[in-house]
Amino acid sequence: MAEKILQIRNLTTGFLSDRGLAKATDRVSFDLEKGKTLCVVGESGSGKSVTAMSVMRLIDYAGGLIVDGEVLFNGQDLVKKKQSDMLKIRGNLITMIFQDPMSALNPVFTVGDQISEALRIHKGLKKKEAWRQSIEMLRRVGIPAPEIRAKQYPYEMSGGMCQRVVIAMALACNPELLIADEPTTALDVTVQAQILDLLLQLKKEFNMSMLLITHDMGVAAEVADRIAVMYAGTVVEEGTVKEIFDGPRHPYTIGLLKSIPGLEGERGGDLYTIKGSIPPISQLPEGCRFHPRCPYAMDICRHKEPVMQTSPSGHKAACWLDDHDGADPRPGAFSSQELKVTIKSKLEVAHS
Ligand SMILES: Nc1ncnc2c1ncn2[C@@H]1O[C@H](COP(=O)(O)OP(=O)(O)O)[C@@H](O)[C@H]1O
Ligand code: SF4
Ligand SMILES: [Mg+2]
Repeated sequence: MAEKILQIRNLTTGFLSDRGLAKATDRVSFDLEKGKTLCVVGESGSGKSVTAMSVMRLIDYAGGLIVDGEVLFNGQDLVKKKQSDMLKIRGNLITMIFQDPMSALNPVFTVGDQISEALRIHKGLKKKEAWRQSIEMLRRVGIPAPEIRAKQYPYEMSGGMCQRVVIAMALACNPELLIADEPTTALDVTVQAQILDLLLQLKKEFNMSMLLITHDMGVAAEVADRIAVMYAGTVVEEGTVKEIFDGPRHPYTIGLLKSIPGLEGERGGDLYTIKGSIPPISQLPEGCRFHPRCPYAMDICRHKEPVMQTSPSGHKAACWLDDHDGADPRPGAFSSQELKVTIKSKLEVAHS
């Protein structure tokens, strides 16, 4: 069996308020194989960032509390680690890129100094060698004239350039696992494609595993080996890109697929949107969390939570329709190939 770098088991993270504990992730489980990319997909508020912050144990500093579950990184449970031990893992073995590059960079230091600092802390490099390697990293992330750029401050660079710097910083220590939380969402459309392209290329070069968080199914189709779909704090479906696109089982996944511009949705005219909105974690509905928005909701859905069922190939979904005897109302396949073409054309625009 392929080696797993990350195994998340029943991860439950909550926030305490006057009304008790509100769970932002509830029994989240998925695995990431070494060298592969897993995309976590879902609308805003589905618990993607809380999952990532829990893996990094940064959630401890954001007022959150891991109440249950395990995060096995190379077999070691990060949930049980002391923060002093996490300091040796975070930024070194596991690094993270966020949506807004500016929040990851310090405005008062040059970008070269910031990459050097990471190298000096985690690799114990001397100042001169750290500076040399910082310039090399800037070159590898495609920053022209890196010797000059290294001496500049973040405000002297565009958003896309800053995200390249953040990527250089994240990869400088040659991490085993890169967690990228919506790394292109804040960027201009053409720059988005370039940054994605860069991440994919570097993932290969650095022989990393990647957990990529995105609200964009199109991005997932392009970069993922497997996709985990999250809704209201739970994983509702998980499988290979082919399984998810060729035979989506959860109506929420189907809704996300129908909402992709250029796929099925647009053919009828307006772009499809899933009706309603994701519930706040303090007001989760009974039964299936998706039932108030689900076009196929049945009686059982309103009072009983669906059980996750795994196919022999490992495709997982939690939906009562899988147990239903009548006709299956769900549509069939969506073409991930067609999607790749859409994204490739974006890339071509970006490169021209
Ligand atoms: N610091 C916090 N305090 C209270 N609730 C939070 C906090 N951070 C996130 N949440 C809630 O947890 C849920 C999941 O958030 P998040 O993981 O950021 O979603 P996503 O990244 O999928 O958009 C949301 O309902 C959000 O409001
Ligand atoms: S369990 Fe019911 S409400 Fe939930 S997604 Fe399936 S059909 Fe829809
Ligand atoms: Mg988020």
